[in-house]
Amino acid sequence: MIVRPTIERYARDHTTPPSPLLETVAATTEQAAEHPEMMTGAVEGALLAMLVALRRPRRILEIGTFTGYSALSMAEAMPAGCRLVTLEADARHADLARRHIAASPYADRIEVREGPALDTLAGLSGPFDLVFIDADKPSYIRFLEAVLPLLDPLGVVAVDNVLHFAITPDATDAAAIEAFNAYVASRADLVQVVLTVRAGLMLIRRAD
Ligand SMILES: C[S@@+](CC[C@H](N)C(=O)[O-])C[C@H]1O[C@@H](n2cnc3c(N)ncnc32)[C@H](O)[C@@H]1O
Repeated sequence: MIVRPTIERYARDHTTPPSPLLETVAATTEQAAEHPEMMTGAVEGALLAMLVALRRPRRILEIGTFTGYSALSMAEAMPAGCRLVTLEADARHADLARRHIAASPYADRIEVREGPALDTLAGLSGPFDLVFIDADKPSYIRFLEAVLPLLDPLGVVAVDNVLHFAITPDATDAAAIEAFNAYVASRADLVQVVLTVRAGLMLIRRAD
C-alpha cells in the first residue's frame, strides 16, 4: 500500500463490498497460496469492475491470473457476450484459478491459458477492448509492446504495480517499473494516467 493505512481502510469501507464469490476466492487464496498479497483485492478489484461496466468490452485480456480474483472481479461486470482470456505461467496458480472459475457462474466465459505470457501473446488475435497487465515486472515493456497490436483503437490497458518501487526495496523490480513508466511517458502515441490505488495502477489508451 502506498497511501496511509487509515485512508486505505476508509477507501475499502466505502467501496461496494466484494461479492460472496470474491470473498470465497480471497479466503481460499489466503489459505492455499504462498503469496496471497498478490491478489488485487477489494478496492482495485472494484475499480477493474467499474472499468468493465463503463467500457462494456467484448473481449478482455489479463496477463497474470494468480488465483482468479481480478479475472472474476472483471467477469462480474462483463456485459452479455463478453469473453475474458487470462494468462498464467505457474501451473499451481492456473489450477487454483481454474477451480475458482469452474465454481463461478462465468466458467464458459473465462479461458485460462497456461504458459509464459509472451509465448501465449504471440499466438493471440485481437482485438481486445480492455487489457489488465499484472505479472512479472521486468517483462512489462515487452507485455505492452505485445499487447498494443491486439488492442482495439478505443481500448484501454490497465497496468498494476506502477508505484511498486515506493513500497519495496527489490532493486530489479523497482528499476523495471521505473523503466516501464519512463517508456510509456516517452510514447507520444499513448495517453496515460497513474492512479495511487494499491501499489499504483496506470491506465493507458491510444492518443486521439
Ligand atoms: C500479482 S499476481 C496476479 C494477481 C491477479 N491478477 C489477481 O489479482 O488475483 C502475478 C501472477 O502472474 C504470474 N506470472 C508472472 N510472470 C508471468 C509471465 N511471464 N507469464 C504468465 N504469468 C506470469 C505469476 O505466476 C502470478 O500468478
